[in-house]
Amino acid sequence: MRVLFIGDIVGKPGREAIKRFLKPLQTEHNIDVIIANGENAAAGKGLTKEIAQELYNYGIQFLTMGNHVWDHRDIMNFIDGESRLVRPANYPVGAPGQGYGFIRTMGKKIGVLNLSGRVFLPSLDDPFSGAIRWINQIKQETPIIIVDFHAEATSEKVALGWFLDGKVSAVIGTHTHIQTADARLLHQGTAYITDVGMTGPKDSVLGVKKEIIINRFLTQLPAKFELASGPIQLNAVVIDIDDETGKAQRIEAIQLFSEA
Ligand SMILES: [Fe+2]
Ligand SMILES: [Fe+2]
Repeated sequence: MRVLFIGDIVGKPGREAIKRFLKPLQTEHNIDVIIANGENAAAGKGLTKEIAQELYNYGIQFLTMGNHVWDHRDIMNFIDGESRLVRPANYPVGAPGQGYGFIRTMGKKIGVLNLSGRVFLPSLDDPFSGAIRWINQIKQETPIIIVDFHAEATSEKVALGWFLDGKVSAVIGTHTHIQTADARLLHQGTAYITDVGMTGPKDSVLGVKKEIIINRFLTQLPAKFELASGPIQLNAVVIDIDDETGKAQRIEAIQLFSEA
């Protein structure tokens, strides 16, 4: 099967990019399953029920989250009843929502596991040992497993990729909003990319108006973030997976841009 994994959707520009690029992309690449990181989909911070529904309506079947998961209070109203949404599994016990879930399509089941890194991010539970535990649980249902590793440090991400090589179909990095040029198959059949990138405003600093961030670096003063406008982009990877073994066969990075 062919899976499309879309990088962090940032606010309205990100949703516009989904609206504009997703259907043609799906047709052109014969995509079977669509997963996206939605932690920034509501104005750059968090997710609301309404916006999740908008993304499902565009054809996204499953959403992963990250450190911004709790930024919009509306998430508390629906995360527990929402089977198409996961937040990092390594939040301490008692956090609402689920850390892994399943997509059921074409008579198959795809497990999706969300993990957060701990370098330059809140010190959650250990994603490495936790991953093995959760993967063993998912494996009882399906050999097809996609991991979204939401992390900052390239070392932590590459290390988890190798650690899970052969244990999952793909380890896809999110959170930095910059697509890395290292999409590859690891030795035991796991597709890997350090970061899939961002879906949102192109001429920005990680989605935010560039002037605001430049000024923040210049003055070190706090500033209200505002999303950038102008050209938009979609960043994603396409992964081919053997349905029977769960091994990845191919990974391709994709970047699409609107004109000017
Ligand atoms: Fe993000
Ligand atoms: Fe993030």
